[in-house]
Amino acid sequence: MKLRILIVITLLSFPIVLARAQNTGAPHLEKHGTATQLVVDGKPFLILGAELLNSSSSSLEYMRPVWPRLAAIPLNTVLTPLSWELIEPREGQFDFTLVDGLIQEARRNNLRLVFLWLASWKNGMSSYAPIRVKQDTQRFPRVVEKDGKPVEILSPLGKESMVADARAFAALMRHIREVDGSAHTVLMMQVENEVGVLGDSRDRSPAANHAFDGQVPRELMTYLEQHRETLLPEFRKVWEAAGAKSSGTWQEVFGSDAKADEIFMAWNYGRYIQSVAAAGKAEYPIPMYVNTWLGGWSDPHPSPYPSGGPLPEVMDLWKAAGTAIDMYAPDEYMPNLGEWCDRYRRGGNPVFIPETNGGAIGGANVFYAVGQYEAIGFSSFGIDTFVDLERDSLLDANDDLGKSYAVLAELAPIILQHEGRGEMAGFRLDKDHPRMSLELNGYRLDVTLDQIFETAAKTGFGLVISTGPDEFLGAGSGFRIAFSPTKPGPPHVGIGSIDEGTFVGGAWTPGRRLNGDENDQGRAWRFVSKRISIEKAVVYRYE
Ligand code: DGJ
Repeated sequence: MKLRILIVITLLSFPIVLARAQNTGAPHLEKHGTATQLVVDGKPFLILGAELLNSSSSSLEYMRPVWPRLAAIPLNTVLTPLSWELIEPREGQFDFTLVDGLIQEARRNNLRLVFLWLASWKNGMSSYAPIRVKQDTQRFPRVVEKDGKPVEILSPLGKESMVADARAFAALMRHIREVDGSAHTVLMMQVENEVGVLGDSRDRSPAANHAFDGQVPRELMTYLEQHRETLLPEFRKVWEAAGAKSSGTWQEVFGSDAKADEIFMAWNYGRYIQSVAAAGKAEYPIPMYVNTWLGGWSDPHPSPYPSGGPLPEVMDLWKAAGTAIDMYAPDEYMPNLGEWCDRYRRGGNPVFIPETNGGAIGGANVFYAVGQYEAIGFSSFGIDTFVDLERDSLLDANDDLGKSYAVLAELAPIILQHEGRGEMAGFRLDKDHPRMSLELNGYRLDVTLDQIFETAAKTGFGLVISTGPDEFLGAGSGFRIAFSPTKPGPPHVGIGSIDEGTFVGGAWTPGRRLNGDENDQGRAWRFVSKRISIEKAVVYRYE
């Protein structure tokens, strides 16, 4: 009963605090055409970020020499772990020294933060919960797996665990509002980390078995019926294959294989984490997201990935469970970034890549994620992996990522202005995928890997923005573009001019006029592979 009242009060106070936050310039999400943007202090913000290794931010001392090196990469945002065990050392007693220190150091280095709330779960396990939570398995029950063995994973059906986590998170968010409610160093919160049951397809604790054998909650069935047309097809197919029933047990409604287990877990993790996030938002409603350990139903079951995390197959369950989570985000270490972005941005979910490869791969992918998927942000994992402060290897190791971030930071105001209007595209090319085509503002652009000269590129990446009727702004490396018309009129397209340049204080400052070998004697718009350049092309049509 008490729990219900808490949830109802939290949910009711939501719109009021959200409106208050937006008026004070606090970070929030806003629609811009078809895109969603992160807006901070009244302006859209593109996160060019990186995540620290899991344990670095547990010590202010350890972090002190790291901060300036992060700023020099250059990043604008650091995804920073913050664990439940360190901020609530005794139940109800909070110590925010670490939070304050991290915020101060970030400010000193002109960096923003996304805090990762490592509490009930981190990579499926519950190792970041305070020891008193880990020990008290009566009050804070564990997941039980097939062999009947409790594992070090808190059961998402544990109501007391949820209340304890939500209380601590609410205290943290209250504190962040108090110390950062006007400076807005903290942009967003990640709630938990890569959740789901590892080692089995579902929790088999007594409470979980009882719920699984019982009826699918009415509330969930109503949501599914009301949203039937917009449910993601992977999930809808499973429901329909079992007869699209409007009531029944989990296996009656979703079938008798492990998919029903995963659906059940997704609903329960969703309920728990939506409640934790809602409690935090009632204190300070900045954007909140959940990250995902990728996998899916094409993988073998029981799965090698955690069962119940917000994979596309079960994302609808998370959405049915609440509205406090604003984004479902893929941790993307696979070679098919585009496919995952396509799957994750369905249903209006904005793209945010909280964890991914850095180095040259990240340096190329960030153009693709931002240009093609209008990502709110991009963050490479383990940015301080190579810390050797003597030799400054932190900077060397992140050179390629840093070069891309520097160019994107320069372009960010223009990118953000053109997002959501069909005026921008991004791409990544390599030997196996050496060409692609895109259409912008009445022109077809055939983009190919720049392999003609001795500077032949192994990879090409970039983005193009249509900035005027016959004008394009491009940035990237190792590709060339040929134009053809898509609208009625003269059949040929010529290159009028190409200028390289920079944006100084938002104003275009042209450098060399690129012609001759640099534009293949007027035949192509080229971006050589030796560097990342910004170029403006003016084209014309002729008979
Ligand atoms: C994904 C996790 O979310 C991170 O915290 C970290 O453990 C990495 N995997 C390690 O590669």
